[in-house]
Amino acid sequence: MVKRFANYQYVFGDMSDRDKQEKGSKFWNEGKFQNFVLPFLPEDCTDMTFVDMGCNHGIFLKMAEDMGFRKVVGIDYDRRVLEKALQWKEMNGGKYEVRRGLLEHSLPELPIADYTVLANSHYYVSIDRWLDYVRNLKNKTRYCIIVTAKKSRKPDSKASPDIDKIRWYFKDWEEVGYEEPPLEGDPYPRRLYSICFKNPLLERVPLVELDCGNNVQEGFYKEVDGGTDPTETEYYKILKPYRKGWSEVKLNKYVHDKKNIYTDLKEYGIKKPLIVKTSRNNRIVDGNHRYNMLRYLGHKSAIIRRII
Ligand SMILES: C[S@@+](CC[C@H](N)C(=O)[O-])C[C@H]1O[C@@H](n2cnc3c(N)ncnc32)[C@H](O)[C@@H]1O
Repeated sequence: MVKRFANYQYVFGDMSDRDKQEKGSKFWNEGKFQNFVLPFLPEDCTDMTFVDMGCNHGIFLKMAEDMGFRKVVGIDYDRRVLEKALQWKEMNGGKYEVRRGLLEHSLPELPIADYTVLANSHYYVSIDRWLDYVRNLKNKTRYCIIVTAKKSRKPDSKASPDIDKIRWYFKDWEEVGYEEPPLEGDPYPRRLYSICFKNPLLERVPLVELDCGNNVQEGFYKEVDGGTDPTETEYYKILKPYRKGWSEVKLNKYVHDKKNIYTDLKEYGIKKPLIVKTSRNNRIVDGNHRYNMLRYLGHKSAIIRRII
């Protein structure tokens, strides 16, 4: 029987007989994360970001946070689901974020992820939006894990759960694994599989391997955190004689913009990869400020995209 979204993941409250069986199953709740997602995750996820699209009540979010992911974000569209997810987050003391939105529209505002999971959610998306989503995902995640039911009824107007179609959607990614645990002996089995793809365009590298050119911003973010106006900072003083051709208005806007980018990055994470020129000894050609923000915030590595 199809389960309603509002009762999908069991997190608290009265347990139905079905919830009791699912709690001990590989195919639902924590068991689903352990058997279909965890096999693709690294042991050390320090600095890494985990995004769950169609996160329901947030079981995967809590488990990813407990594993040590630095930033964990979930998206779900259903208002009732979101209410319960937020209640449960309050109860479990999680730091992860749950946002309301359509997964197919949410990429621009999301942090760039190391792992993006779509567990029994991608096939609700219309095919045109899904194709756009997968194209845009190329600049937003290093790995994508799809967990999906083997469905018999499949409208062509939606993204498909079929393995051959999924491989086709991700044909310019590298397939790194497939999981399909046996149904036998499980208290509430279902025909599920998961598949993980690696994005060839993005990689995570230690910050020390990157060249950001100069250190003139050193101290800027600390001063901003301490409440100093951007135009009163040491960085501003260094820039002023250096940017002789700029009007005062332009220079003020420049440092205020940097402050706003910093505040956004601190709160919501970094949204785009740093662009690095391999043929210039890993010189950052886009993202110098973001590099310095990450360093100041204690990150040891960043997601980059290489150009030659
Ligand atoms: C079948 S449940 C799966 C929940 C969870 N991923 C899991 O595997 O345990 C699908 C979830 O995706 C959400 N959902 C469906 N379509 C969505 C969309 N287009 N954007 C965001 N969330 C969506 C639903 O509200 C529901 O919580």
